[in-house]
Amino acid sequence: MSKKLFIETLGCAMNSRDSEHMMAELTKKEGYTLTSDFKTADLILINTCSVREKPVQKLFSEIGQFNKHKKDGAKIGVCGCTASHLGEEIIKRAPVVDFVLGARNVSKIRDVLHKKGAVEVDINHDESEFAFGEFRNSSFKAMVNISIGCDKQCSFCIVPHTRGDEISIPAELIINEAKKAVQSGAKEIFLLGQNVNNYGAKFSNGKKDIDFPDLLNMVSDIDGVQRIRFTSPHPLHMDDKFLQTFANNPKVCKSMHMPLQSGSSRILKEMKRGYSKEWFLDRALKLRDLVPDVHISSDIIIGFPGESEEDFSDTLDVLEKVRFEQLFSFKYSPRPLTKAADMVQVDASVASRRLSELQARHTEILDEISLCQKDKVFDVYFEELRSEGGVGGRSDNGFMVQVEGSEELLGTTLPVKITNPRRMVLYGEVV
Ligand code: 5AD
Ligand code: SF4
Repeated sequence: MSKKLFIETLGCAMNSRDSEHMMAELTKKEGYTLTSDFKTADLILINTCSVREKPVQKLFSEIGQFNKHKKDGAKIGVCGCTASHLGEEIIKRAPVVDFVLGARNVSKIRDVLHKKGAVEVDINHDESEFAFGEFRNSSFKAMVNISIGCDKQCSFCIVPHTRGDEISIPAELIINEAKKAVQSGAKEIFLLGQNVNNYGAKFSNGKKDIDFPDLLNMVSDIDGVQRIRFTSPHPLHMDDKFLQTFANNPKVCKSMHMPLQSGSSRILKEMKRGYSKEWFLDRALKLRDLVPDVHISSDIIIGFPGESEEDFSDTLDVLEKVRFEQLFSFKYSPRPLTKAADMVQVDASVASRRLSELQARHTEILDEISLCQKDKVFDVYFEELRSEGGVGGRSDNGFMVQVEGSEELLGTTLPVKITNPRRMVLYGEVV
């Protein structure tokens, strides 16, 4: 009987792809099969996120739960960003953990698997050209890494300390991977990196004359690629060439993530974001101009150290002007190793009140945006059976759309007229 592998994946799309890479290595080269029930697993992996404090706190109680109910002799491995950050401390605090594998050390999964107590957390290990086995959770879309690490030093962010320096992956490898994904049936390519539109700034063996718009065009030239999405771009690098390519390449889906973080130029400076409120507004409004149906999502941090009422009203002002189609908003969480953790903190109740105000206003905006979608027709790529019945997919511009139907729609792209727009899902009919 084959050994069974259970993986819990927290955090961002990079982590999801790292989990796929570990699944590839373990199923193709170590004989594991996947299970969704950890109690039957011979190996339990927790792929952690450390971007905010809460999940990190939960990690140790979770390890305890896994240990209590796991199969006799089953191993537990802690991977991902918290592994990079805490390293051997994890085994000291939880000796039941068999190994610790950092976010930048995924290619070493087979080494640590066989070494009780192994800790591999070098944040600058260069995996940019490692040939991982093939494994994808979805047969409809394929995540493809285009860079690893992050060279920005945003003062709130732990990621440069968990994923190390930024290195772009050679374009030939990216194109080969995208081609393989298309051959195995994926029509959508989802390009991943911490700062995708800084692609090409640095490769393992120096700089090459290629940037992100060039890469988008190269991927779109592959026969069989129908859609290209990417995350996460950085507002600082949203130059005209990038916006024009985004607007003019028909295979590039018209949804853009623009992580604002704060609408106050003063706070943006403290955050070391490299752009101002005016630059952000200029780029977002230019994007709306170039692509009238564009879907813009954003991340906002509330209660960054020193945030005043005036700074907060600048954030609300950007929200009013850009009217994001999707917003992820968080209360600032002080992180070890970051500059902002040592600054004077905003009172927790003030931050909570501001966060509620921001979210309440965004919910109103979202309801207005959803209503405006009624009777519009979108091309929808169907990729999931919805738990409440029906089939779901994304419109080209990033809305979740659901219609009646079943498996036969999966993997097809069809025009859908929106009949019942709701806040999170637009319901419609294939026309
Ligand atoms: N506190 C709260 N949110 C954070 N993020 C990153 N670091 C922190 C922090 N210390 C948010 C940012 C980022 C998203 C992935 O997580 O908004 O864009
Ligand atoms: Fe992803 Fe950042 Fe979380 Fe790491 S810390 S998993 S890079 S969101």
